[in-house]
Amino acid sequence: ETMPDRDIFVFERAVASNPDSTPEDHQLILGDVHETLPAARARFGANAALIHADLGGHNLAKNDAFAREISPLIEPLLAVGGIMVSSDRMYFDNLIEIPLPPEAVEGRCFMYRREKS
Ligand SMILES: C[S@@+](CC[C@H](N)C(=O)[O-])C[C@H]1O[C@@H](n2cnc3c(N)ncnc32)[C@H](O)[C@@H]1O
Repeated sequence: ETMPDRDIFVFERAVASNPDSTPEDHQLILGDVHETLPAARARFGANAALIHADLGGHNLAKNDAFAREISPLIEPLLAVGGIMVSSDRMYFDNLIEIPLPPEAVEGRCFMYRREKS
């Protein structure tokens, strides 16, 4: 709604969303992100302006281990100047952590930006 000119792709292993919020088939990349993120790198390259990840559950240690696994799979997808927003701390080599907007809750949300290629 706020970015009608942007293509938005959803990565999920199982769709269980409200039908009103379910993406069209061509926007959906179904499967485990350990496989679909590397495939997206070959398809899209480093072109994402915004990446949002909310993949974790209630086990914080498990979420952290998962974030460490997928950080190197996400990092190559972000364009220079692009923003990555996550519900877990991520482990990037070349993205810098940036301050949250004032209304966000510290520790519940993390933001990163790619400054250069
Ligand atoms: C906390 S839910 C968040 C969903 C969505 N952001 C929302 O607010 O409705 C986490 C989602 O990540 C998906 N997920 C977890 N691990 C995944 C994986 N390895 N590959 C693909 N999807 C995964 C789950 O299926 C689940 O729908």
